[in-house]
Amino acid sequence: MNGIAVPTTVGLIMDGNGRWALQQNKSRLEGHTKGIVNMMAISAYAFDCGVKNMVCYGLSTENLKRPAEEVRHIYKLVIDAFEIFVSTFSEKKSCVKFIGDLGALPEEVRASMRRSEEALRPYEGTGKTLYVGIAYGSRHEIVEAVNAAVERGEKVTEESFLGSLSMPCEPELIIRTGGEMRLSNFLLYQSSYSELYFTPTLFPDFSNEDLDRAFAWYATRKRRFGLA
Ligand code: IPE
Ligand code: IPE
Ligand code: MG
Repeated sequence: MNGIAVPTTVGLIMDGNGRWALQQNKSRLEGHTKGIVNMMAISAYAFDCGVKNMVCYGLSTENLKRPAEEVRHIYKLVIDAFEIFVSTFSEKKSCVKFIGDLGALPEEVRASMRRSEEALRPYEGTGKTLYVGIAYGSRHEIVEAVNAAVERGEKVTEESFLGSLSMPCEPELIIRTGGEMRLSNFLLYQSSYSELYFTPTLFPDFSNEDLDRAFAWYATRKRRFGLA
């Protein structure tokens, strides 16, 4: 994206994998397979465009209640993606952080996430971070941060509280694919002044050009933060 102001922190609600698969006469599971491949491609492109923090919502705390076969398939995708994931983001010099109620996940999924985080740790501090929400729920994230502060006997401020969240940045832009106009428990504290971009495109079809379009829309927004 040449010549326009690209947001520093971008949230991406990757919705529509199931509907994409049904449209193609495939199983919902194939939609998720396509989705994770696209998550890597879109995030890599976002870093090329100048994004510093890319926050991808992959699986919500509520999604854990979906049929076991679907949830297991998503876990397997996370495990199997390890090598391509590490090579894609090493090339971009980006580190990765998995955010969510990780204790709710099977140990082998957690182990794979840890291995990815460790493999990409050399890129911490180089300014690019991919956050992946797995078993992520904003309410859970907030309650955890509140409880940690209570345990420390600490009063929080708006700034210190933001800093204590697992994703401690405020996205200038949140994109949701798949046509629904809601946040579905994503970054509720951090999104106070985010610009919200909704597109009917189903996530597996969401392309680099679609991301360019979202950035172009963002560049037209007048952000007022409550001021006159
Ligand atoms: C988003 O796609 C990915 C997850 C929530 C795991 P969906 O699976 O919600 O796809 P739709 O919304 O049913 O099409
Ligand atoms: C939001 O999508 C969660 C992710 C994309 C990971 P959902 O499909 O779960 O959201 P709802 O049910 O339409 O609100
Ligand atoms: Mg959905």
